[in-house]
Amino acid sequence: MKILNKKISITTSGVVAAAALSLSVSSVQASSLGEGLYMQHCAACHQPNGKGIPGFFPPLADNDRVNSDDPETIQKYLRRVIFGYHGGLIVNNQMYSGRMPPIGYVGRLNDSELLKLVNYQRSSWGSKARDITFDELTKARQAGSLK
Ligand code: HEC
Repeated sequence: MKILNKKISITTSGVVAAAALSLSVSSVQASSLGEGLYMQHCAACHQPNGKGIPGFFPPLADNDRVNSDDPETIQKYLRRVIFGYHGGLIVNNQMYSGRMPPIGYVGRLNDSELLKLVNYQRSSWGSKARDITFDELTKARQAGSLK
């Protein structure tokens, strides 16, 4: 995608459709529930390898904010995943200003599924972040959206 530094006129949903299409042609074989849930709910945007799409969807692999063991940073991470996010981000010197949907909030995933998903993500693609606990997830749900 060679549109990085130009004004972006393509709609996010168009990119999602394109990303989802490329995902559906590659065969997705999950070896754990967490991986299967990630593939189903996150990979269309953040990609199966967690690298995202520069300028559109931030990487989750090699992203210090996403793979931190610090309790406060984990709370922010969880609140973004549960309630969605639209505030703009900079990851590895690249700006993002898209819209992350409220994946964990719409009732598609229960808490135990969501935990498996985020802990799969945090222990994949070279990251060895510690597991997030049920209590941390409950606290983030109660705290609500970041905005
Ligand atoms: C429809 C596309 C889409 C889907 C699906 C999606 N995201 Fe996102 N995500 C985004 C966008 C766009 C942003 C950046 C938002 C911004 O710039 O304000 C983002 C941001 C994030 C962030 C913040 C990253 C940081 O550096 O702080 C995390 C964490 C995240 N997503 C995790 C997930 C997880 C986990 C899933 C699956 C449960 C998921 N996303 C599903 C589009 C998506």
